[in-house]
Amino acid sequence: TDRYAVIGNPIAQTKSPKLHAAFARQFGHDMTYEAILGPIGGFAEAVRAFRAAGGKGMNVTVPFKVEALELADRLTERARLAQAVNTLKFDEDGSILGENTDGVGLVRDIQGRVGVALRAKRVLLLGAGGAARGALLPLLEEQPSRLVIANRTPAKAEALRARVAAYGNVAAGGFADFAGEQFDVVINATSASLSGEDVPLPVGSYAAGSLAYDLVYGKGNTPFMSHALENGAAQVADGLGMLVAQAAEAFYLWRGVRPDVTPVIDMLRAA
Ligand code: ATR
Repeated sequence: TDRYAVIGNPIAQTKSPKLHAAFARQFGHDMTYEAILGPIGGFAEAVRAFRAAGGKGMNVTVPFKVEALELADRLTERARLAQAVNTLKFDEDGSILGENTDGVGLVRDIQGRVGVALRAKRVLLLGAGGAARGALLPLLEEQPSRLVIANRTPAKAEALRARVAAYGNVAAGGFADFAGEQFDVVINATSASLSGEDVPLPVGSYAAGSLAYDLVYGKGNTPFMSHALENGAAQVADGLGMLVAQAAEAFYLWRGVRPDVTPVIDMLRAA
């Protein structure tokens, strides 16, 4: 039996064991996936202990994604640009590969489940924290015609832009700097809603037929989604699909097969 786990602190809230158990059932794989409460200051030791006990890979969540980046012997380009690792793979030769599947999960969810192609689209990314940083390279790989990073603190948006400027047409600034410009896809990667606040998006940002995507999810529409529908977005989606898609990407990295995310998203919605 192959062993996997998610490590974080806190960890009780994690849906990952449920997701990976559902994926394993799709293929009849003999594996276990557990949740580990990582001690603050003891992350690397906990990872080594799990590996020594036969672990094949781990997901990493808050607050250990940067420590996981430092622990990995090799990084994918995505993880390097995200400056965060959410998936570790323990290779046969003893080395640890660090990957970040969050951004690619977002892109797969937008283009797959939601059904909106990103190529040649005008994309507005709201926020410049860890979540936005992780999304940047996967978004640019789809070759949008333009990607704008808008953030409450413009200097942080500019710093992100500078990191990925070589990968496409990227602009950065504050929310008001892009007033009057229209976008086909608007992605909320701020944590504003977690504190009950609205993102001060300029009026008129939504082009005809546009999609508003919130990385956050909850029961029903998030405040960002409701605001988007009132302001001209044609379609909205929340981040539950991204959650399942990033897990599916980790499963693929470990197991070499791609789970069907649709029944698993349905299962979570029903729960
Ligand atoms: P995460 O890992 O979720 O991205 P983070 O790194 O703390 O979390 O980043 C939070 C993001 O949400 C930042 O872009 C932050 O803007 P600042 O860089 O100006 O701090 C943004 N954010 C948080 N609260 C916000 C609010 N009330 N309005 C607008 N943006 C907000």
